[in-house]
Amino acid sequence: MTKQMVEEPAVTNEENGKMEHGVLLAKSESSVEDACANGPNGVLEKSSDTSRVVDLRSDTVTKPTALMRIAMAEALVDDDILAADPTAAKLQERMANVFGKEAGLFVPSGTMGNLIAVLVHCEVRGCEVIIGSESHIHVYEQGGISTLGGVYPHVVPNEVDGTMDLRKVEAAIRPNDEHFPISRLICIENTHNRCGGRCLSAEYTDQIGDLAKSYGLKFHIDGARIFNASAALGVSVDRLCKAADSVSICLSKGLAAPVGSVLVGSYEFIAKARRLRKALGGGMRQIGVLCAPGLISLNHMVQRLDCDHRNARLLAEGLESIRGLRVDVDSVETNIVFIEVTSESPLGAKEICEALKQQGILVMHMDRTTRIRLVTHYHITEDDARLALSAFQETMLKASSKVAITNGFT
Ligand SMILES: Cc1ncc(COP(=O)(O)O)c(C=O)c1O
Repeated sequence: MTKQMVEEPAVTNEENGKMEHGVLLAKSESSVEDACANGPNGVLEKSSDTSRVVDLRSDTVTKPTALMRIAMAEALVDDDILAADPTAAKLQERMANVFGKEAGLFVPSGTMGNLIAVLVHCEVRGCEVIIGSESHIHVYEQGGISTLGGVYPHVVPNEVDGTMDLRKVEAAIRPNDEHFPISRLICIENTHNRCGGRCLSAEYTDQIGDLAKSYGLKFHIDGARIFNASAALGVSVDRLCKAADSVSICLSKGLAAPVGSVLVGSYEFIAKARRLRKALGGGMRQIGVLCAPGLISLNHMVQRLDCDHRNARLLAEGLESIRGLRVDVDSVETNIVFIEVTSESPLGAKEICEALKQQGILVMHMDRTTRIRLVTHYHITEDDARLALSAFQETMLKASSKVAITNGFT
């Protein structure tokens, strides 16, 4: 991917790495290796709280960096409902360029981005979208495409690698028959969250695109973490999304911005998306303050995602060696690690999460399952990953010896 530059906010002491706003700012052009160790500003910004918390619940927990906060403060703004906000325009244009699409639109969340995309593509009443059983749109977005948009979901099972079997997708496309809803859209998710951050290849995506085209359907990618897929596959985001009519990209996940997503697609698609955003209450005024961190994300966060992937791998390998936990190490391709708590574990998944929390290690129990999720991100260093591993080891060991004592083995 070509490195695109935007003007940085005026930070007079940036070259010298002095303190400003209580944060040490080093050179912004730090190497990726430096960035892995210390964060893209040379020094990983931690909260002033001295108690060490390793927050692996999600990549959505990141706090805006010093550069982002400065960019927010200094952003040029105007009324975006009047399409006059220059920073929003810059972010939207920049994202559209990076993705090789005609236009972009800032939206408050990934959920709204997906909802708008589905509703724009399925604008005729009685439409149906073909969608993965484990997809975020299907599982975690309140069924908004149906409740708010009247769009019917045709659910195809996700394979463990996040794909849907192409034959099953094709079989889900309805014939032109008045008994059926009207097939209009196919959605995929890349990386695939509930499938463990798996990457969908450009070839697979092209095949979905070809299928959609051959039946006259539209094709949307939930690309909340598409930059993670790009980093892991070594394939540019525009190539990964070439076949898609629209993509929703989150700024507030691995890219560490505090708010927002950008939808990209054709001029016609974005014009309709803009109208719908207003109807959904997502039209906002001086949004340059929200878009400015997104530009910092594109300049500084994209290049460091490999660090998150390395730390996730480190976690996966360490966790796999702990009795009572199972991790499919080979499936950890990006920044998400799923642990299966086995019957050999002295503690249940929820109890493990609780015990870790007491030690300042925050992880997510996937409700009513035996799964725990860990996500690496900008604030997680290699050292943090090792600390989390030790806490897991200690927690499991301690619980095992308690069980042994109770059973009279010692
Ligand atoms: C794959 C995927 N899509 C969409 C979203 C929704 O993003 P938001 O939380 O900004 O609504 C998420 C959130 O975690 C996600 O993981």
